[in-house]
Amino acid sequence: MAFFYSWKTAQRSANTGKVFAPKTVLPHHCGSTDLWCDMTDFLIAPSILAADFARLGEEVDNVLEAGADIVHFDVMDNHYVPNLTIGPMVCKALRDHGVTAPIDVHLIVQPVDDLIRMFADAGASYITFHPEASNHIDRSLQLVRDLGCKAGLVLNPGTGLDTVRWVMDKMDMLLLMSVNPGFGGQKFIPSTLDKLQQARQLIDASGYDIRLEVDGGVGVNNIAEVATAGADTFVAGSAIFSQPDYAAVIASMREQLATAG
Ligand code: DX5
Ligand code: ZN
Repeated sequence: MAFFYSWKTAQRSANTGKVFAPKTVLPHHCGSTDLWCDMTDFLIAPSILAADFARLGEEVDNVLEAGADIVHFDVMDNHYVPNLTIGPMVCKALRDHGVTAPIDVHLIVQPVDDLIRMFADAGASYITFHPEASNHIDRSLQLVRDLGCKAGLVLNPGTGLDTVRWVMDKMDMLLLMSVNPGFGGQKFIPSTLDKLQQARQLIDASGYDIRLEVDGGVGVNNIAEVATAGADTFVAGSAIFSQPDYAAVIASMREQLATAG
């Protein structure tokens, strides 16, 4: 597919603030038959793991103002992974601070059910967890939905896609790790691209409305390739927060996404 689209030429709806582009220049897996397609189908999710924790509220405000769509919130417990980060009190603090954007809570903890309840109370929008960390995956996914949040599973680089096959009816998100979880700033594992393609086929064949998120080592240099492989939601920590101008990075990512095919 040829792409003549430039993010700068996109039209912004006066009513919704959403950005639209002609269908002829859509990313490949949009599937829309409408003349105009909502380009926000691609979601950019900055990982606040890479933010300045001493100024977290301000950092989240700034990155949303810079054009981010959702806030990726990594929860580590020094048990499932050898690192310790932030918990439900920090999620609630962001809501109390005035953050209204979706908060995408990535539980990198074991076990998961108690924290699912706490994060639902704290204002999480999405709650995803690793299948190895729950004794009863189906039940934990249902718990997330029963508490009013969107539910998802996260697959480590070494975990197969077959893990999700029988619970897709309870999933709103499938997150593929493109690094081993535990730390930001790692290098993207290339085999994730094949896995994304297979995951995209699995989701499309299922008929369920499930976002396909990728997490780890994603930046301006590879986001188009990752989108072409089938991802629609892009976690990026160090690629955004290491730069002085968050809006410039996010705009560059959108420009790259517009070339994905
Ligand atoms: C890793 C986390 C990621 C991480 C991504 O365990 O789940 O969300 O923050 O960081 P970057 O984008 O720097 O690889
Ligand atoms: Zn994450």
